Amino acid sequence: MARKMVKDGYRKLADSISSKMESKNRDFPILKGHPAAQDNAEKVLQSNEDVKRKTQNLMKEFKIYRWSPEDPTRKPFLQSYFVNLADCGPMVLDALQKIKSEEDSTLSYRRSCREGICGSCSMNIDGTNTVACLKPIDTDVKNPTVITPLPHMYVIKDLVVDLTNFYQQYRSIEPWLKTKKPPPEGREFRQSAAERKRLDGLYECILCACCTTSCPSYWWNPEQFLGPAALINAYRWISDRWFRFFVFEKQN
Ligand code: SF4
Ligand code: FES
Repeated sequence: MARKMVKDGYRKLADSISSKMESKNRDFPILKGHPAAQDNAEKVLQSNEDVKRKTQNLMKEFKIYRWSPEDPTRKPFLQSYFVNLADCGPMVLDALQKIKSEEDSTLSYRRSCREGICGSCSMNIDGTNTVACLKPIDTDVKNPTVITPLPHMYVIKDLVVDLTNFYQQYRSIEPWLKTKKPPPEGREFRQSAAERKRLDGLYECILCACCTTSCPSYWWNPEQFLGPAALINAYRWISDRWFRFFVFEKQN
């Protein structure tokens, strides 16, 4: 009974939030200035609405890559799971959580923040590398959603890949600010608005490895080529005013 009341309450709250968002004509003020995030929020809303609209046949098939080191002789295979979308959150990570908690606790994948901050839930979903917590479930139940690990990486178990080389390459660029001098006047290092703007598009990397593991050059030469994630982070530091200050000081 209590459970039903909570469920009804949750549904009413969701309906009221949804109607408010609709009345705002899909405006997401908090995401102002972030067109990709606006676009994603729009897709999530649309996906939620699709689920509500379709009242029948909401069982969605997920085909998920399985391999376990406990049974190394068994080749990797795709295992099918069926999830009732009417009873699941809107993102692919929600479906994985539901499968793991209700159907198969042996399924392995990484996740932490569930909101696109930590970068741990990266995987390949329907042929595209992405983070599962920001990927809306495709509500077309005619086709299964296929989930595999990040490509060309050593698999530890199921959707968990070995990122040791990726992190070592990130470490090799020495991703921190270097300066020989303390901040002027003993205060923090200051940036002008224009200097700060130079870092836009560089500082946001969450080290999910989606770009690096979808790069053919990285596939063929992961030992030599650092890959796009390490390079964009290197560029973030050399674009920093205080890093340039350090280089200038060094040259003189
Ligand atoms: S730059 Fe690459 S590793 Fe960083 S967030 Fe983007 S896709 Fe992920
Ligand atoms: S769980 Fe952190 S980015 Fe997906």
